[in-house]
Amino acid sequence: MRLDYFLAHTTAMSRKEARQAVARGQVRVTGMDRVKAATAVSSEDQVWLGPTRLQWVSNERYLMLNKPLGVICATQDAHQSTVLDCLPETLRQGLHPVGRLDKDSSGLLLLTNDGQWSHRVSSPAKHQGKVYRATLASGLTDAMARQLGEGLMLKGESRITRPAVVEVLADNQCRITLSEGRYHQVRRMLAAVGNHVQALHREAIGGLSLDPALAPGEWRELTAAEVAAAEGGPRA
Ligand code: URA
Repeated sequence: MRLDYFLAHTTAMSRKEARQAVARGQVRVTGMDRVKAATAVSSEDQVWLGPTRLQWVSNERYLMLNKPLGVICATQDAHQSTVLDCLPETLRQGLHPVGRLDKDSSGLLLLTNDGQWSHRVSSPAKHQGKVYRATLASGLTDAMARQLGEGLMLKGESRITRPAVVEVLADNQCRITLSEGRYHQVRRMLAAVGNHVQALHREAIGGLSLDPALAPGEWRELTAAEVAAAEGGPRA
């Protein structure tokens, strides 16, 4: 977040007054030589207004989950396990998944109680790259890869898909990066070129990759840099 935003949230100052305080040299951040209103800081930084340390208190929560197979992306369901069931009960209140992954897909899923952030991360207008590893029923031919790369018409739709970036990883495995998020898009695109997705795993969203230390079903809090990366900031 910007330093002036941090100040406006931790003091009674408006953003304008915060910018003026920074310009007057009244604000320091431990470990930084010079700061500007636009300087990026995190909730863990030590920010000082004169002699007073300002403490960031936030109720906003940002998590990444390695979504396991077989759970649905919903906050509650009468019959099926949801992604919230992967979290301790004390943490679930107010959280929602950011976007969706199919019940039969695994990998990076973000959860938050910050609706604005959720909207920015998943806004179609931002064309955030989403990276998937797909295991296929048969090898991906050059013709298939070309069609995916050029964009194609999905059944029942009226607009061709945005160009996908495709990388062949092994005989029956590819990495595919989409910059939009239509219903069951990867599965439907592969079906449209005559192949079939047997397994699908999301590796990254925007500049944020799934932490390889997380086993299926495990989660952790995002760092401030990761919160920014997920919405298109520098890669984390
Ligand atoms: N595309 C799919 O087909 N399924 C997902 O879960 C995500 C993208």
